[in-house]
Amino acid sequence: MSETKRITQHTLKRLKQEGQTFASLTAYDFTTAQLLDQAGIEILLVGDSLAMTALGHPNTLSITVDEMLHHVKAVSRGAKHAWIIADAPFMSYHVSLEQGIVNCARFIQEGHAHAVKIEGCTPEILALVKRLVAIGIPVVGHLGLTPQAMLTFGGFKLQAKTTQTALTLIQQAHALEQAGVCAIVLEMIPTELATLISQQLAIPTIGIGAGKGCDGQVLVTDDLLGRFQGFHPKFVRTYMQGASLTQAAVTAYQADVKNRTFPNNETEATPMNPEAYASLLRQLALEEGETHAKSQ
Ligand code: KIV
Repeated sequence: MSETKRITQHTLKRLKQEGQTFASLTAYDFTTAQLLDQAGIEILLVGDSLAMTALGHPNTLSITVDEMLHHVKAVSRGAKHAWIIADAPFMSYHVSLEQGIVNCARFIQEGHAHAVKIEGCTPEILALVKRLVAIGIPVVGHLGLTPQAMLTFGGFKLQAKTTQTALTLIQQAHALEQAGVCAIVLEMIPTELATLISQQLAIPTIGIGAGKGCDGQVLVTDDLLGRFQGFHPKFVRTYMQGASLTQAAVTAYQADVKNRTFPNNETEATPMNPEAYASLLRQLALEEGETHAKSQ
């Protein structure tokens, strides 16, 4: 593989300035990270969506910093070029500024991520963003449908539909930019609103269910590969029937095992050295003869 330089927040800003777009996908494990990285995906997001897609929780609320870290470390080992964002999970940055700093720093220090993502735009979040950026931790914001607030939203629904809520979202995007975030995820908001925000901000926006006016796009990899069998949001484009392809492959394997065509002893197993085998048989015959003699 050719030597490619590591993508950074500056690469993404330059792409925006040049009018070029970029792709981001979620990654939760080493092998997936390696594949996506080799394919040239610019950003790997270790999203807390892994609570649902990889761990089977009904939402993202149950996952902890330690659980997230386990995945962030694996992704960091797999990706050589992509910019890696770690999602700070629910309650890891809500109790106090100090706890938020300590938890976010763990993703950089222990997980080797290049940025942390935090949801929302309360005064406390803005204060945390400022502190993290001052420390040297790049922060990605997340506005619109912020899944950690799904109990308040009452589900996964389009946000900022009215003039007033759209105005609030625009103000929040500006406030996050001023606080120092280097990019903002815009999730499930109307297309025109996402386009306006993307035009107004100097930093890149990364859209999911927010139309093509965003500077880059992000999808959950299991959705794109058609592997996740939970709900299927309208904004997901499925590029592979991963669930049925996986099931067809494992069913074929099971059939081969049952009809004894797997493994093939010539190509998928290793024979014993003939001399060692002959000697083993002689040894076994000898032992059997001795046992027989003793029993007479
Ligand atoms: O957790 C996640 O995967 C995310 C994306 C959907 C943006 O936050």
